[in-house]
Amino acid sequence: MSDVDPSELLALCKRRGFIWPSFEIYGGVAGMFDYGPLGCALRNNIVDVWRAIYKGREGFVEIDSETVNPREVFKASGHVDEFSDLITYCKACGAPFRADHLVKGFYDNPDVLSPEELEEAFAEHGIKCPECGGDLGKVEEFNLMFKTTIGPGSSRVGYLRPETAQGIFVNYSNLYRYNREKLPLGVIQTGRGYRNEIAPRQGMIRMREFNMMEVELFVSPEDKDWPRFPEIEGCEITLVPNTTCEPVTMTVGEAVSKGIIANRVLAYFVYTTKQLLERLGIDPQRLRFRQHLADEMAHYAADCWDAEVLLSYGWIEITGIADRGCWDLSRHAEFSGQDLTHFIRFDEPVEMEVERIRAKHKALGPRFKGRAKDIAAAMESKEASDVRDGKLVLQIDGETVELTEEYFEIVRAKEKVAGKRVIPHVIEPSHGLDRIFYSVLEHAYDRDSEEGYTVLRLRPEVAPIKAGVFPLMEKDGMDDIARSIYSKLHASGVESYYDGSGTIGKRYARMDEAGTPFCITVDYQTKEDGTVTIRDRDTKAQRRIPAEDAERVLRALIAGADFASA
Ligand code: GLY
Repeated sequence: MSDVDPSELLALCKRRGFIWPSFEIYGGVAGMFDYGPLGCALRNNIVDVWRAIYKGREGFVEIDSETVNPREVFKASGHVDEFSDLITYCKACGAPFRADHLVKGFYDNPDVLSPEELEEAFAEHGIKCPECGGDLGKVEEFNLMFKTTIGPGSSRVGYLRPETAQGIFVNYSNLYRYNREKLPLGVIQTGRGYRNEIAPRQGMIRMREFNMMEVELFVSPEDKDWPRFPEIEGCEITLVPNTTCEPVTMTVGEAVSKGIIANRVLAYFVYTTKQLLERLGIDPQRLRFRQHLADEMAHYAADCWDAEVLLSYGWIEITGIADRGCWDLSRHAEFSGQDLTHFIRFDEPVEMEVERIRAKHKALGPRFKGRAKDIAAAMESKEASDVRDGKLVLQIDGETVELTEEYFEIVRAKEKVAGKRVIPHVIEPSHGLDRIFYSVLEHAYDRDSEEGYTVLRLRPEVAPIKAGVFPLMEKDGMDDIARSIYSKLHASGVESYYDGSGTIGKRYARMDEAGTPFCITVDYQTKEDGTVTIRDRDTKAQRRIPAEDAERVLRALIAGADFASA
């Protein structure tokens, strides 16, 4: 475990304006935090790196969908029926508890226990209410979604989204058209998700309202390769497979060839997650990828690897990379009656026996009258696989029409077919932004061995302030020069901070604690030769550069150039 005391780090975050407990003047609400100025900047910088990798490097597109969704979306996605934790209430004081948390010391993986097993565990181990020692009640499912109504009254039930992913799945047809009906199709979205956690705890690790960066990659089920895989197949990664549950380091290529990671596209994005997290400042020695156990997997996942980082709380999941198979699009196709497929065109047409829907005009006419012809055409444009439980559901002019086999038949015919329709599979790297934010801070947290004060060794690319700008003293025109350097940097988008108060040592300490990687000082020599000193936070090395080069040098350093030669 890391030796960072989370309460000290949270105190620093509060002092420096990274995060504040929400609604503090009213006593706060567990599991809710607000981002202050430095926190917002750090979080935005993390998002920018994620975006640069997915949009810039991999060519994905970005969307922004609604956070309140009608019930139909989450009925189809499975969240209405499956997205719950097990809860128990104390019979004496009424306090609620997550049932699996109460038996943590007795089982390796208590979150796979059923309600009955948990009740037996309470009895067997004499587990009582941690608040008052009273007896615990029945263990029940507690759905984690926040429920609301859309519009006045209670006619249309809605939920705050528990994941941004569904906003991408329900837009599949629009996105597929936008991508000119080609796969792979990669889509990213960042925004809020909401989960009404029973017991928020561990600071920012389990929040009720949280930020996500989600990636949904639609691929053909027949092509789970990725063109850039050869670039990373020789790179090493630490995996904890669910067969052995032991960490093992191997190359990504080996992980696929040994069947540890199921396919190359999933493996590629597991490795991309490692690259992202390390670029953000996660310590590679405190990062591993753990495969979910079969009974731990979310209802939608065929396989899932968690990026886990070692924090003061132990190993914590900060990203999940799941193969969601065809779960989401099959379910939305079934519940909406829409075609959510991808067309795979054969190299040349192939003669095949196919099943076709044939309308029974004699039955349609009496029921649908003037609309019968349109309904027949709509039926015959559907695939036989669209018939489920003997029923075909059509959307006609905004109306849902359900037809039984009284109105159609399935006929077999030999036809030359140009291709086939398949439901795409989805590969999903889903990043918990707040958890990444906190982990970046914990892994950056250090103590200056000489001065004894706290330093945040944030990587320059993500640091909220890139440079502190100081006059040696606020006199003799040095302050005017420093202010002008600060203004130029600020206007050019290199975030900087002017500080003229206190000793230079105190100003360095303030910047070090805020994670600022560089400081620029204007002194008497600046007035003679136009040079300033630039100081590196981590090595404390200093050199002189022309003041007019400050922006160029800082940009080079932020991009990773060597301090001595930038
Ligand atoms: N979309 C994955 C998750 O919500 O965890």
